[in-house]
Amino acid sequence: MEETVKKKVMLSGIKPTGDLTLGSYLGAIKNWAERADKYDCFYFMADLHALTTRNNPADLRRRALEQLAQYVACGLDPEKNTLFFQSHVPAHAELGWVLNCYTMFGELSRMTQFKDKSAKNADNINGGLFTYPVLMAADILLYQPDYVPVGDDQKQHVELTRDVAQRFNNLYGETFKVPEPFIPRVGARIMDLLDPASKMSKSDEVGNGRVCLMDKPEDIMRKFKRAVTDSETGHCVYYDAEKKPGVANLMQIYSVCTGKSFEQIEAEFDGKGYGAFKPAVGEAVVEMLRPIREEAEHIMRDKAYLEGIYRAGAERASYVAERTLRKVYKKVGLVQK
Ligand code: TRP
Repeated sequence: MEETVKKKVMLSGIKPTGDLTLGSYLGAIKNWAERADKYDCFYFMADLHALTTRNNPADLRRRALEQLAQYVACGLDPEKNTLFFQSHVPAHAELGWVLNCYTMFGELSRMTQFKDKSAKNADNINGGLFTYPVLMAADILLYQPDYVPVGDDQKQHVELTRDVAQRFNNLYGETFKVPEPFIPRVGARIMDLLDPASKMSKSDEVGNGRVCLMDKPEDIMRKFKRAVTDSETGHCVYYDAEKKPGVANLMQIYSVCTGKSFEQIEAEFDGKGYGAFKPAVGEAVVEMLRPIREEAEHIMRDKAYLEGIYRAGAERASYVAERTLRKVYKKVGLVQK
């Protein structure tokens, strides 16, 4: 009989605050589609986490749906990946409560993100912001994942998740798989077009240095034409990340869009200068993003299709999550239903 090898499980959550950018696409999402062949992948829109900051309710709802549509448009196949909204699987909030009772006040007080965020939003330091990492631990541990791919800013939260899982396992016996941090194969690191020293970020309020997946072609062109380069004489296009960070960033983007090497790009723009180079990068980005934007718009119009994706996702996710939650309830001594 053929032996079925269980794939390793991978899980990640994405907060639906802010629009997906070219940076997140080239740096991460682009590489996610192929992961599904190797791993059993769960991706959810962390809409409950989004409540720790004040949002306009209509905006939050639209963003959450758009984000899902954009992920699918970027190639995340809903048949091969489990895609869902966090709030559709009540086990997240339920396990979150239990884990609150196994996470120490001191541990949460030491989280750098809590310290940063409460310093920045002194008028809204709510309990949810404080226990944010506990809900995140619940998100993760429910699915017994092997790997949790996250950016640098979330590593401390994954460490805390491991500590809480180990603490619980020590008290009650093996219950949770202790997840390994996953360092994604490095995608391109795309920098802000107006400030090439900082990463192109989705939460950046001023939009001119950042290209969003849903930007119109004319906006993309305008942003690239205004991209910061340098004032070196000759306006020569060559790669030097230290001395010419703006040009290096544009070359990086152009290279990923067209598949051309830096040498080929240097040859292509030899003697042509930045005036020709910048719009060429813009056009390459427009063409790369066009099918993604069109597909996302198409999905957004097809409400039934979108609904089908997140309903099926929540159902698959609930099946796995509920199993872990029941086990936990039993171990801590709650009466079984
Ligand atoms: N906190 C993460 C972020 O801000 C989002 C997130 C929520 C998450 N739950 C998660 C990421 C679980 C990985 C696993 O980016």
